[in-house]
Amino acid sequence: MPLLIKNGEIVTASERYIADVFCEGETITRIDRGIEAPPGAEVIDAKGKFVFPGFIDPHVHIYLPFMGTFAKDTYETASRAALVGGTTTLIEMCCSSRKDDALESFELWMGKAVGKSACDFSFHMGVSRFDKETERQLREIVRRGISSFKVFLAYKGAFGVNDAELYRTLKLAKELGVIVTAHCENETLIAELQAELLAAGKTGPGSHYESRPPRVEAEGVHHLMSFAEATGAETYIVHLSCKEALDEAIAARQRGVRVSVETLIQYLTLDKTYAERPKFEGAKYVMSPPLRNKSNQPVLWNGLRDGLVQTVATDHCPFDFKTQKVMGKNDFTKIPNGIPSLEDRVNVLYTYGVNAGKIDLHTFVNCASTQAAKTFNLFPRKGTIQIGADADLVVFDPKYRGKISAKTQEVNVDYNVFEGWKIEGRPAVVTVRGEVAVRDGKFVGTIGRGKFLKRQSANY
Ligand code: URP
Ligand code: ZN
Ligand code: ZN
Repeated sequence: MPLLIKNGEIVTASERYIADVFCEGETITRIDRGIEAPPGAEVIDAKGKFVFPGFIDPHVHIYLPFMGTFAKDTYETASRAALVGGTTTLIEMCCSSRKDDALESFELWMGKAVGKSACDFSFHMGVSRFDKETERQLREIVRRGISSFKVFLAYKGAFGVNDAELYRTLKLAKELGVIVTAHCENETLIAELQAELLAAGKTGPGSHYESRPPRVEAEGVHHLMSFAEATGAETYIVHLSCKEALDEAIAARQRGVRVSVETLIQYLTLDKTYAERPKFEGAKYVMSPPLRNKSNQPVLWNGLRDGLVQTVATDHCPFDFKTQKVMGKNDFTKIPNGIPSLEDRVNVLYTYGVNAGKIDLHTFVNCASTQAAKTFNLFPRKGTIQIGADADLVVFDPKYRGKISAKTQEVNVDYNVFEGWKIEGRPAVVTVRGEVAVRDGKFVGTIGRGKFLKRQSANY
């Protein structure tokens, strides 16, 4: 059915104006004032509301075997949550472990998503070892529509690659025009610090930070930047949390290294004191890199404003507090790492970023949608509002007032780190390729309609 969104204020990364948006056959076909609805069209009145391009979360985990357990969401629960929160496209990390076959892993992750997602999706292909056969399979995976790899410079023995493998992965990526996303922390330093802390009887969640201080992350970034410089590959630092790490990325960029930076909504709004909460409550806030000193937050907000930081993601990683985080009750190194936030990213970024005067509306759209689309070969199909783009639209009500709570969330996890936080504005209507998936803030979409988005790398 054709769809007409009338009288909304369209906001993209660079423009802001009042107009109607007409969508037919999954795409935007007209943008104008005073468009008449043809018979049979659905009309949505967006007067007094913003119309944003569908938001993109470029870093989520849905299927994730990790630290002796599995992340809790499925594509059904995660895509519902994403859409209610205004995210119409997500890119999941396909995190195969060192012993796994790359192609088999890719197919396994695909199998979890195809026919089960209500929003569109793609993957960053994890590279956890590099040999002749893996190289052959990675070429095949790129041919099938994946234009980004993921490497971990942490998690020794599980996902992490050694330096020779890192070098070869980056060389292959350069040849294929694939961007390499990277978790940057020095795994040897982490292992040594963890052992020292445990030996000193420091076993609680608060010690997680001490085992991964800012220099551990900055060293990881420095390391990746050296390898990126040596190979000329394009890189993307995931979940950057602190000034020390950002300084390393900026220094590398200034000498010509190709690097983009992602931060997370968690680092912008939460700090390390949350992970120090008593009675093991801090475990809810354990993720890697850890939540930092509050002094890093203005650095990250300013980075977004000044274009030094490109994207805001979630690294959504849902582990239950009661049954999973508790695995690390007597040893912080066993707390499954990760903080879920897929459903709340856009609302928290709007309320605590735009409404708090830290970023403007264009920066908001840019870092939560447009830049991810541009970086990961989805633009202009995704990430903006223009004729020919997919009709992924968020009609956002800036007058809505509410509170975040685990009791009302769609994500399948038993807590919310933003519990009780006020929200000023939320997506009222969300469309995926012209079909309404959220109405009055409630999911009304179609499970299984979400498409795998083939992304073409530069040299393929
Ligand atoms: O703590 C985190 N970030 N958990 C998810 C896995 C990862 O490192 O991205
Ligand atoms: Zn990571
Ligand atoms: Zn992650």
